[in-house]
Amino acid sequence: MKDAFGLPQSLLVLGGTSEIALATVRRLVARRTRTVWLAGRPSPALEEAAGQLRGLGAEVRTVAFDALDPEGHEAALGKVFAEGDVDLVLLAFGILGDQAHDEREPLNAVRVAQTNYTGAVSAGLVAARSLQAQGHGSLVVLSSVAGERARRANFIYGSSKAGLDAFAQGLGDALHGTGVHVMVVRPGFVRSRMTEGMEEAPLATTPEAVAGAIELGLRRRSETVWVPGALRVVMAAVRHLPRAVFRRLPV
Ligand SMILES: NC(=O)c1ccc[n+]([C@@H]2O[C@H](COP(=O)([O-])OP(=O)(O)OC[C@H]3O[C@@H](n4cnc5c(N)ncnc54)[C@H](OP(=O)(O)O)[C@@H]3O)[C@@H](O)[C@H]2O)c1
Repeated sequence: MKDAFGLPQSLLVLGGTSEIALATVRRLVARRTRTVWLAGRPSPALEEAAGQLRGLGAEVRTVAFDALDPEGHEAALGKVFAEGDVDLVLLAFGILGDQAHDEREPLNAVRVAQTNYTGAVSAGLVAARSLQAQGHGSLVVLSSVAGERARRANFIYGSSKAGLDAFAQGLGDALHGTGVHVMVVRPGFVRSRMTEGMEEAPLATTPEAVAGAIELGLRRRSETVWVPGALRVVMAAVRHLPRAVFRRLPV
């Protein structure tokens, strides 16, 4: 069960090698979390992540999970929930794709959409049902500012995150009053493996800063978290810019 401050004792990461997720888990293990499930595509990186968290004192298990295999989600998550309550599910998987390349190769674009959006629809619904059955818990969804307004430079990824974000908001409303809490996290540019080698956007941040914002959001039982917080105001303005102006911005 969560403690009086809303922090989890047990958690499940979907996308178990995500740098943002692992920074979050390290932070929560330093607080109260004891049981960690890392769900992801089997790889040495997944086992290494599990080993590092064990070194911090957590009991860690891995489970095979592929966002692109929605038929397998019931079984993967079922295995975890069958072992005991899960106080927090962190939906962290995602791919950025390569916009220019993916525009020329529609099947690659579909892979971005299927990973980030339909994979999350399936995993999110399966997780929500399990959390509801146990009567408590949080589902934290890593969305992105990219979904707030699709940019010319990455509208394939942006549109997948817009879908994910809308889905997670609706799911949060559906679960309101059930004891299950859904929190949508919208980071800006985060210096992680996903953005390695890319030119930094303004207000760039770190996985550790996102982890800190997630912890605070859990304590406050927030529904939406922007990282950094200033993006909330920036994006409120950007969202309302006329198309003709937005199109000319160097973003
Ligand atoms: N970095 C940023 O600037 C930024 C900003 C806003 C939002 N986000 C979002 O935050 C989340 C985490 O990103 P990150 O920065 O931590 O990136 P990351 O380190 O590259 O993590 C991405 C994760 O997604 C997993 N993944 C990809 N395809 C998968 C699939 N088919 N099935 C299961 N897992 C799959 C990867 O697993 P493998 O090890 O198997 O590849 C990895 O664990 C993503 O949803 C991302 O869109 C990132």
